[in-house]
Amino acid sequence: DKTLGELAAASHRYLGSATDNPEFSDAAYLKILGSEFNSTTAGNALKWYATEPQQGVFDFTQGDQVLDFARRHHMSFRAHTLVWHSQLPDWLNNGTFTADQLRAILKNHILTEARHYRGKVYSWDVVNEAFNEDGTYRDTIFYRTLGPGYIADALRWARQADPHAKLYLNDYNIEAVGPKSDAYYNLVKQLKAQGVPIDGVGFQGHLALQYGYPDTLQQNLQRFADLGVDVAITELDIRMYVPADEAKLATQADWYARVTKACLAVRRCVGITIWDYTDKYSWIPAFFEGEGAALPYDENLQPKPAYYAIRDALRDA
Ligand code: G3I
Repeated sequence: DKTLGELAAASHRYLGSATDNPEFSDAAYLKILGSEFNSTTAGNALKWYATEPQQGVFDFTQGDQVLDFARRHHMSFRAHTLVWHSQLPDWLNNGTFTADQLRAILKNHILTEARHYRGKVYSWDVVNEAFNEDGTYRDTIFYRTLGPGYIADALRWARQADPHAKLYLNDYNIEAVGPKSDAYYNLVKQLKAQGVPIDGVGFQGHLALQYGYPDTLQQNLQRFADLGVDVAITELDIRMYVPADEAKLATQADWYARVTKACLAVRRCVGITIWDYTDKYSWIPAFFEGEGAALPYDENLQPKPAYYAIRDALRDA
């Protein structure tokens, strides 16, 4: 049988899974990660708290570990993320900086990290989660101190540091057409008009059965593609209230298939990354009480109906 990665590659796309460094001691887990998927990303290792734990002191050991695994297994690598309000180091969270100081800090962070990975990564999530649900800018240390121009600056610095990486903006709850995805649509249009380097938009895809399927996903992906950027599903998982049962798993499988088909139907949808592949290592139970079972493999690394649904959707392409 062909793997998900092989089937996606036949459609010139990738099917990837996020991973995280603590999981590198799990040989059975790694075997599937390295064989079934043709792309990966580090769930935490490239975030600011991990890469610049002290101001001006950089540490890429965890990120390098994930990237080395990807290279040894011929997987492409999505790098996540250069600028995000969450998981910042204490010195940045607790410090007070003038705009000039913060600009210099941001520039140095982006240039140093993106240069370290220069030529080795497929893409960078340059700015992550910049908007609120209503489409206004999220009030982060960067927005507050630097204004909305920090996004264009970040993209320019990332391009300068690694001219080959595809540069993305990435967010959740933008799968459907709505105020938040409209904000990205308008921003991308504006950035393009201003000649700011922007190559793609990442739709995280943290879906939940109780909120319903985002019916406008394909149409939404297409309108971004029509602006002249790539699109990707970057952190897909589909959670439910646990315990799972046959009916919920069937609905989940159907949703995984629909997301896969939506991507395949849009020429500029370059691939799908699931936010780790097994319920054993999902972030969901720790963040949403009573929810889980969000991924295509169960806690014993056995494929669920969702796995076969993705496989069939890729095969039919
Ligand atoms: O590193 C500490 C460890 O020392 C400590 O023992 C342990 C105990 O709780 O916590 C560890 O830190 C955890 C960290 O992941 C690394 O494992 C944090 O508590 C935990 O909150 C953190 O969660 C991550 C989350 O981002 C934080 O927002 C998830 O693993 C990660 O999958 C998740 O990923 C985000 C994307 O980056 C952006 N989109 C949403 C997505 C889901 O939240």
